Amino acid sequence: LGPFVHSTSLTELEISEQGAIGVDEKGVIAFVERDVAHDGVDEIKRRNQGWENAEVVSVEGNGFFFPGFIDTHTHAPQHPNTGLFGKTTLLDWLQTYTFPMEASFASLQKASTIYRNFVSRTLSHGTTTCAYYATIHVPATNLLADICLARGQRALVGRVCMNSDLSPEYYRDESTETGLRDSLESINYIRSIDPAGEIVKPIVTPRFAPSCTPDCLSAMGRLAKETDTHIQTHISENVNEIAFVAEMFPAQDSYTHVYDTHGLLTPKTILAHAVHLSPEERATIKQRGSKISHCPASNTAITSGCAPVRTLLDEGHTVGLGTDVSGGFHPSILENVRQCIWVSRHLALQTSDAAKLSTEEALYLATRGGAAVVGLEDKVGAFEVGMEWDAQMISLGTANEEGCPDGAFEDGPVDVFGWENWTEKVEKWVYSGDDRNTVAVWVRGRLVHRTGKFMGARGAA
Ligand code: GUN
Ligand code: FE
Repeated sequence: LGPFVHSTSLTELEISEQGAIGVDEKGVIAFVERDVAHDGVDEIKRRNQGWENAEVVSVEGNGFFFPGFIDTHTHAPQHPNTGLFGKTTLLDWLQTYTFPMEASFASLQKASTIYRNFVSRTLSHGTTTCAYYATIHVPATNLLADICLARGQRALVGRVCMNSDLSPEYYRDESTETGLRDSLESINYIRSIDPAGEIVKPIVTPRFAPSCTPDCLSAMGRLAKETDTHIQTHISENVNEIAFVAEMFPAQDSYTHVYDTHGLLTPKTILAHAVHLSPEERATIKQRGSKISHCPASNTAITSGCAPVRTLLDEGHTVGLGTDVSGGFHPSILENVRQCIWVSRHLALQTSDAAKLSTEEALYLATRGGAAVVGLEDKVGAFEVGMEWDAQMISLGTANEEGCPDGAFEDGPVDVFGWENWTEKVEKWVYSGDDRNTVAVWVRGRLVHRTGKFMGARGAA
């Protein structure tokens, strides 16, 4: 019960100030009512038969329900490196920071500590669905899936496949065969713990073209096809990387062509970055129905470039946001909403105003766009009857009669003075909010995160 905000299209945000959303035992949205200000809870319950004993969760103060965020690309084992990138760009960043850290996940104890911490962290930032890269290690990858399932976070969990000599000897698959065997083992395990794939699903994860030999890429394409699995990889992130791919795969005329030749461009493929694609490459990706994860914080941090999101959207691509920890310096999708808008403004300064993304568009990418990238557009990303209750309660604190924050939220990042209209409140949250504003998070109706500011549910009124 209370205000709710969600995207109804790429450019439109619905702000319903007096809402009532009914969520059934299965976590499915059974009704969505608007303008219920003058109805008592009893009257709403009477109108919706069978809801007499429903618990009521109310938004307190200045707050609203917002759909859970979808992170379409992140690396759980890189969590300890968050904020560390120095002056590196992609290829030396991988060698300096990433491979040594990921290699240490041979230790299941380390994986347990870091993965638990990271899943808690992403949930606390309102991420209800996350596409994770793990490492090459099967036990640690499977443990990440266990943790997501236990905590109730929707996740795609991928064992990273990498067998080329770009990777150090201490951290790579021995051969295509062992890589294939290990990836299949992880897929089978993840399907055994959640056979219907309601919370966790496996995802075939060839790291990126330079990490894989041609026969390894083909094997991964076949594996995804035979097991009907999602695929995730990186594409066209950095100019040196692109030159390297051209050298490594002389038979193909572009980075996109490399993946296409090896059967890796499917409607269930998530391609991260897509910063420097040619128009022909974008056309191929569109034709194959593959999806794009925009990682703005990462693209700036390791100076990869400004992805042309407006162009991608105009061409009809499906685009979501990715935090890309630890290329990206923050596990929050809200932070990446801001970064996405910022990057688009820098692009606009160099090109034209058309490149600018609005607050509404960035929030769409963070929710419905991301849902479409991971194939869950019918289930999550908005508040519609038949969708599932993946949501966060945002609290902005309250103002007193003098129009000053009343102190109840003195440790919060957003000050609401009481004169703001609803559009302004949402803008304040987008530009200066953080996890302190996310006081409760649900996935499929299950409470998966709460802070001390969440008042909980009330029984039958
Ligand atoms: N390309 C290959 N591996 C990685 C990675 O771990 N992070 C990013 N940002 N790009 C990559
Ligand atoms: Fe990445």
